[in-house]
Amino acid sequence: MKKYVIIGAGGRALSMFARPLVTELKPFADLVGVCDINPVRASVLSEQAGNVPVFDDFDVMLAATKPDAVIVTTPDSLHHEYIIRTLEAGCNAISEKPMTTDAEKCRAIIEAEQRTGRKVIVTFNCRFMPYVVRIKELLKEGAIGDILHVTLNWSLDTDHGADYFRRWHRQMSNSGGLLIHKSTHHFDMVNWWLDDEPDTVYANGARLFYGPTREQRGHTCSTCAHTSTCDFYYDVTADPFTKSFYKDAEAHDGYFRDQCVFGEDIDIYDTMSLNVKYKKGTQLSYSLNAYSPYEGWRATFVGTKGRIEAEDYHSGLGLQEPNNVIRIFNRAGELLTMQAAKATGAHGGGDQRLRRMIFAGDLADPLGQMAGSHAGAMSMLIGAAANVSIASGEQVAIGDLRQSSLRPISSRIRS
Ligand SMILES: NC(=O)c1ccc[n+]([C@@H]2O[C@H](COP(=O)([O-])OP(=O)(O)OC[C@H]3O[C@@H](n4cnc5c(N)ncnc54)[C@H](O)[C@@H]3O)[C@@H](O)[C@H]2O)c1
Repeated sequence: MKKYVIIGAGGRALSMFARPLVTELKPFADLVGVCDINPVRASVLSEQAGNVPVFDDFDVMLAATKPDAVIVTTPDSLHHEYIIRTLEAGCNAISEKPMTTDAEKCRAIIEAEQRTGRKVIVTFNCRFMPYVVRIKELLKEGAIGDILHVTLNWSLDTDHGADYFRRWHRQMSNSGGLLIHKSTHHFDMVNWWLDDEPDTVYANGARLFYGPTREQRGHTCSTCAHTSTCDFYYDVTADPFTKSFYKDAEAHDGYFRDQCVFGEDIDIYDTMSLNVKYKKGTQLSYSLNAYSPYEGWRATFVGTKGRIEAEDYHSGLGLQEPNNVIRIFNRAGELLTMQAAKATGAHGGGDQRLRRMIFAGDLADPLGQMAGSHAGAMSMLIGAAANVSIASGEQVAIGDLRQSSLRPISSRIRS
């Protein structure tokens, strides 16, 4: 049985890995340690996951537990550091998405993988959502021939979407912005659906809704004078778990889970649009906003033999529309409508299926759902190229970004 440790004992580590590893995956995997800079969060996670041993030093944990693989669930901008240290220690790395936040770090990970002969898995759970899989199967079977044009429009609502502006994600230096942190899922889906790689990216991005767009704002919701009138008031103590995991842990690292979504220090975009050209010629038109009344996505695929339309809504009135239907329009004038099976469980049933494939290792993978560093790089680099394009106003070639990644991004941006 393989041994695993976790670095970064936060919400994702607990729900996606720690609890399942000591319950549903107990016959297949042994969770032998968890490490975090915050002792409160690490000990709460440990209590909830069979009292797994807690460490405050990563190297000490590796030496003491000798794991086969390290699960990396820190904030995004730190993934590269722990992935590389993991590979250099002779272990494999299982990294949450995004694999990393910029081209320089991406290149360092791939070099470390080549140097050490160890492997990186990137946990793209969307590839395991049955609805997303059904679309992949249809495209792979050639239901619409060669795919020439794709649109993907993703909306986050003012519940989930706003939450990115309360937490560490609100700063580019932590998350790379939503085009890295969030869109890495979406770009990976498109890369995987198309079985292709991005070539060039042109993007626009702005912060139009969150950030200092109103006078009534504070530092955190806990200390704010406007709680009774603010639609975005979030009480981090309302849920006993969130209180113990974040509020009671504040003194140890100064991290506040309830920062004001109208804060001046927010530097990520909330409104983004991209054009991506793929190597085989397909064009993608993509948008993301973080302040929609309901949450979900719509996609269209137009190919040589027809058109596919798909949509998946997660909250609000959107749920009342036909959900998880796939419409196939062929060139004979027919419309074929397919109601895809609706899965239960976190992230549209994707989390559990992904865990099973990684940790039990007993499933075939005919669609190539397991993702490594190359897929992690290809999706992340679209967001990284978009960030450079927004700053420079120019189209960015993914190849140039990879080549020039040893130079700091600031030196490639026109003032
Ligand atoms: N695939 C998905 O659907 C999905 C969903 C949520 C989060 N995630 C990913 O999971 C990761 C964690 O996100 P989260 O929501 O759990 O965040 P979180 O803030 O709850 O947890 C992050 C943890 O990392 C710890 N940490 C910070 N700096 C550290 C350091 N230097 N060394 C060790 N630990 C450190 C923090 O103390 C915290 O416990 C992120 O990469 C995020 O993108 C993925």
